[in-house]
Amino acid sequence: MGRPWREQLEDRARAALPAPVLEYVLQGAREGVTAAEATEAWRQVRFLPRVLRDVTEVDLSVDLLGRRARVPWGVAPSTLQRAVHPEGELAMARATAAAGTVMVVSSNVGTPFAEIAATGVRWWVQAYLPADRSLADGLLTRARDAGAEAVVLTVDTPVVGTKYTAGAPVWDVVDPALLRVNFDAGYDDDAPGAVKATDLGPADLARLREVTGLPVLVKGVLRPDDARACLDAGAAAVWVSNHGGRQLDRAATTAACLPGVVAAVGERAPVYVDGGLRSGLDVLAALALGADAVFLGRSPLLALVDGEGGVARLHRDLAAEVDEALRLAGCRSVADTPALLLTDRRDERRQGL
Ligand SMILES: Cc1cc2nc3c(=O)[nH]c(=O)nc-3n(C[C@H](O)[C@H](O)[C@H](O)COP(=O)(O)O)c2cc1C
Repeated sequence: MGRPWREQLEDRARAALPAPVLEYVLQGAREGVTAAEATEAWRQVRFLPRVLRDVTEVDLSVDLLGRRARVPWGVAPSTLQRAVHPEGELAMARATAAAGTVMVVSSNVGTPFAEIAATGVRWWVQAYLPADRSLADGLLTRARDAGAEAVVLTVDTPVVGTKYTAGAPVWDVVDPALLRVNFDAGYDDDAPGAVKATDLGPADLARLREVTGLPVLVKGVLRPDDARACLDAGAAAVWVSNHGGRQLDRAATTAACLPGVVAAVGERAPVYVDGGLRSGLDVLAALALGADAVFLGRSPLLALVDGEGGVARLHRDLAAEVDEALRLAGCRSVADTPALLLTDRRDERRQGL
């Protein structure tokens, strides 16, 4: 078998995308240490496969906020999808709907929420909150009215982490019409209160629930104590993320942080994770470490270079890889995967091995 097509995504994007767009997609913050470590950290996980188990039928589905998704991953929020492909979010949404899973839609996207919803995809809206919280209310209630099932509050961005660029930053070359089309008409970045909130707190979760009536997930948690605080504040789920290494450089890898968060809150609420997940084996590693599901950022964005077909192929390839990995590991479903890791004797006893 030749190299997986998935591994060529970056090469294809290099050939197809304008340099500033490619750089924007791939970059990490500052020296890119965290971004560079992400995938390698999943590769360090070693499995103890089970044998003598019937793996004729393997079930990849998971529960995502009370509804079944056909695969144990969703698409993480990202901006500028229309700079990657003219059909942008619509192509991403169609392919993701066909894969039977959730797309998280960035509040900065360049396609109206109603058009994304019309593809039939299940979707959650991602939010950054401004200093004057009420400035985001219109966008969020429009998202709810258009069918968003949940709000994903990104909490790792009190300021935008500095990225170095080789040439012009993407914002200088990209058409502003590809961004923020769901904001209030006449929204002014320079208006008082429009800067990103630097004082997010537990009360914001309650406020978001009140304003939208939707469950609120918190994206960007790395620490067990923060995860507990999120649930105490009413979060429906915790999303372990370092923003793909695009915020605090030298933040710990999500592979390293996931087990602590799962131990702290995994019994109380779903724990999702993203960051550096590229292959089916990476996905298996995250599930084995206790994630209820994973999210993919750059992979679907790079696959989008080939439009809907590219994203569809990514979902298909990944499903085939996860299916194979589960069978080889002796797991009939995602629920079986934590048993693939023996971290200490206590775990062995708990798992009855
Ligand atoms: C180009 C790009 C744009 C992004 N835009 C957003 C965004 O608008 N909101 C957000 O919460 N996260 C954003 N992210 C972070 C992703 O949601 C996700 O956390 C990260 O990409 C996961 O890591 P991975 O790319 O290695 O899969 C963005 C990531 C990329 C690569």
